[in-house]
Order: sequence, then C-alpha cells, then structure tokens
Amino acid sequence: MSKSISGFSKLSKRGKLRWLVENFFKDPENVMREMKSYWLSNEEEQKILDGFSENTISNFYLPFGVAPNFVINDNTYAIPMVIEESSVVAAASSAAKFWMTRGGFRAKVISTKKVGQVHFTWEGDANKLEEAFENLKKKMTADATEITKNMVARGGGVQDIQLINYTGVEKHYYQIKVNFETCDSMGANFINSVLESYAESLRSFVAIQDNFTPEEKEVTIIMSILSNYTPECLVRAWVECPVKDLGVFSNDIDAVTFAKKFCTAVRIAHIDQYRATTHNKGIFNGIDAVVLATGNDFRAIEACGHTYASQDGHYRSLSNCKVEDGVFKFWLDIPLSIGTVGGLTKLHPIAKRSLEMLGNPSAEELMMIIATTGLAQNFAALRSLVTTGIQQGHMKMHLGNILNHMEATEQEKEKACTHFEEKAVSFNAVREFLDSLRVKKTSDSSSILKN
Ligand code: HMG
Repeated sequence: MSKSISGFSKLSKRGKLRWLVENFFKDPENVMREMKSYWLSNEEEQKILDGFSENTISNFYLPFGVAPNFVINDNTYAIPMVIEESSVVAAASSAAKFWMTRGGFRAKVISTKKVGQVHFTWEGDANKLEEAFENLKKKMTADATEITKNMVARGGGVQDIQLINYTGVEKHYYQIKVNFETCDSMGANFINSVLESYAESLRSFVAIQDNFTPEEKEVTIIMSILSNYTPECLVRAWVECPVKDLGVFSNDIDAVTFAKKFCTAVRIAHIDQYRATTHNKGIFNGIDAVVLATGNDFRAIEACGHTYASQDGHYRSLSNCKVEDGVFKFWLDIPLSIGTVGGLTKLHPIAKRSLEMLGNPSAEELMMIIATTGLAQNFAALRSLVTTGIQQGHMKMHLGNILNHMEATEQEKEKACTHFEEKAVSFNAVREFLDSLRVKKTSDSSSILKN
C-alpha cells in the first residue's frame, strides 16, 4: 500500500474514495459507507456540487441558520447565516431585535469600484512609455471590446486605466492599474479576462512603436490579475439612538455607563492590535456567515477587510463608536466586493434560496445587509463583553455541543438544560453534572436490584 499516487484526479469519485479509505483508514468499509451517506440522493444536484471544486469524495455539512428581525433602511429581513460557531446566530438575532425597537439599522453604499492590475517589467525610457500611454489605452480599450460589451450594456465596464511607475522600488517594474464597475457580479472572471487582453495589447503595442529601441519593443508580462483589495468598494452600516433609549443592561448597568464602556471598548480596539484582531474577528463572524450563505467568496472578503483595517499602517478596529449630544452612534465602514449574479450565487441550491430569502437583492443591497450583520454581531459581542462577560451567553449556546461531546442521552440533556438555565456553563461543570446524574442512576439501579 502506498500513500502517494499518480493519476488520482483521473479516478472516478468512487475510485478516489476507495483508494483513500484503503490507504488512510483502519476500517475502510465503514468509512466508505459513512462518506457515501453524505452524498445527496439526487444525482444531478450532487454533480453540481461536485463541480464546484476538485477531487470531491463527499459533502461537508455546515449549519444553515437564520437571524430574523433585521430592520435595515426600514426594510425587514431574515438573514441567512452559514456558520459552525455557537452563539453567533443568536447574537446577531438578539442585536437585530434590540435595534428593531430603536429605529433599526441604516446602511449606505459609498462606492463600488473594483481593481485589477497588469504587472510588467520594461527596460527603457520611462518618458517614452508615459507619452505613448494615451494611445496604448485606446488600443487596450478597443482590443477588449468583445469582452467588455455586455458589462457596458449593463452599465458597468472599465472606469479608468493608469500607468504606475514602480521602477524606484523595483528595477524596470511598471503596473497598469484598472478600475472596474461590475454591477451585480463580483466580476473576478470579467476583470481577469480584460486584464489578460490588456496585457496582450501592451505586448503588441510596444512592438510597433517607431521611436522605441529594439530593447524597448519588448515587455515582460509578470502577471495580470484582479486585486482583492477594494477600498473603494465600500459600504457603511450604522445605528444610533439617544443614550437614554439604550435601556438597562444585565447586572443593572445603566445606559450612560453602558455607552461609556462600549465606546471605550471600541477605542481600545483602535489602539491595541491584539484586541483589534479579536474585535474584527467578531465582525467577520457575522460577515463571513452571510457571505458563505449567499455563495460569495469569504477569503476575498476577509483578506480585503484586514488590509483595510491596516490602511494607516496600524491594524485597527473596523467599527467606530461615539456619544455626541446625548446620542449613541455606532458604525462600521467595510469594503465588500460581492455579487448576486455569477459564481456560485445561482448554482448552489441553498445560496440561491438565501438570496431569495433576502428578496433577490442587488449587489449594493447585499453589501448593506452583510455590513449590517457584521455590525450587529460586533454590537452583541461588545454588549456581552462590557456587561456580563462573553462566557455566559456563549457557553449557554455551547452547552448542546458539550453534551453531545460527552455522549449525553436525551434525558440527560433535558436535565442539564434545566440545571444550567441559571448557572455558568463550563466543560468541567457539565462533566460533574453528568457524573452526578450517572452515579445517581447506578446507585438507584443497584438499590432496586438489592430490594
Ligand atoms: P440572552 O439575553 O440570554 O438571550 O442572550 P434571550 O434568551 O433573552 O433572547 C433574546 C434574543 O436573543 C432572542 O429573541 C433571540 O433573538 C436571541 P427571541 O427569539 O426569543 O424573540 N437568542 C437566540 N436566537 C437563537 N437561538 C438561541 C437564542 N438565544 C437567544 N438559542 C446571547 C444570549 C447569546 C444572544 C447573548 O449572550 C449574546 O449576544 N452574546 C454574544 C455572543 C457572541 O458574540 N458570540 C460570538 C462568539 S464569541 C466570538 O467569537 C467573538 C468575540 O471574541 C468578539 C469580541 O471579542 O469582540 C466575542
């Protein structure tokens, strides 16, 4: 038996699974059966899922949850969330319910610019390239018409093209930086196709410039690719209400004290990178869950968000808070390059339903929904942190997982849920409680036997 293989990708799905279980598992037949039990019974739907990536052998399930009561710009949404972590959906729902009676959330899209780059090296007189650039732009635009015409018809396309001279930092390195409007699509394939066409135009353009030396008639294209950093594809979500309307919080914390502690907590996340990372992770708990549920690319969203959080050279909170003239204001600015058409959005059966649940939003509307979920999540987490502490709510939701981990029976689970209603949940506390139940059961049954 060998743990390496040539031609794995050419095997059938069953063949791949067979090879895998026989080489990496002690009980191949059981594992084979188990992996296959997660295949969809509808073969056509399974084929669609298998087509999303490569070497698929089974499906990996994640919970699909819903956070209701989100009032955003006076519209009410039930928000789909795909996430494996307990208490996130509950926290989002609870923040939505809280703000529903305080005017709801507000959101607006600030800009929708996407970015792509052709990176190249060229050995020559930079002035000549800069002088020729207007003509090069015309050629690039004309050569790419076939690729851009549909997007232009939808109201999008290429917005502007710049030449950037980086030779001061890297010998002979230039960049063509392009801004795009991709309407309701995330636009990755469109952008990359345009950039590859531009790279080809650049190559042929320099070759026929009469005033270029033989050396200048050659260009080395290093790569042509979109940038996932889209600081100008930006959305703002916010909440505000008079401080007094915030109400009273757990442990009898009044509104003024709450607002003060809450704003300080946000400021700490602007000052300290250790705190900022956890703070922003809380924001992405909400954002990633909606991004996943709607078939968008959460890696791109996270990478962009974290770069944006460090735009001044220091990693900071993505959210902000202030109290001004007795009004509590909490807001989040975040770049979100997402789509509601293309990619998996209509191919993944549940992503399609998620979008339907949201009323088939435009990309701009979805940007606002996603940013709001991030803000709600951040609000709920901070509210817990500055009042009860995080463990009370989080562990309450996590109780089910601990009970499953300890293989509790349905009866034991029921008793544990009642027992922990007013008590702090921890792994040890649950173990002790289950042990006490089990000891009691053994002693009860032995006394029955004796009698
Ligand atoms: P609670 O006050 O005990 O909840 O809060 P409740 O039982 O009074 O219910 C109020 C509402 O909360 C409910 O309204 C639901 O909307 C929601 P209703 O449906 O009854 O009309 N809710 C639930 N929704 C679904 N399933 C449930 C459920 N329970 C309540 N089982 C809660 C409990 C967990 C909401 C609260 O303690 C909370 O918001 N905690 C914060 C939890 C959190 O942030 N979790 C994220 C994971 S921790 C993390 O990774 C991020 C972090 O490190 C980030 C950071 O440091 O900034 C914290």
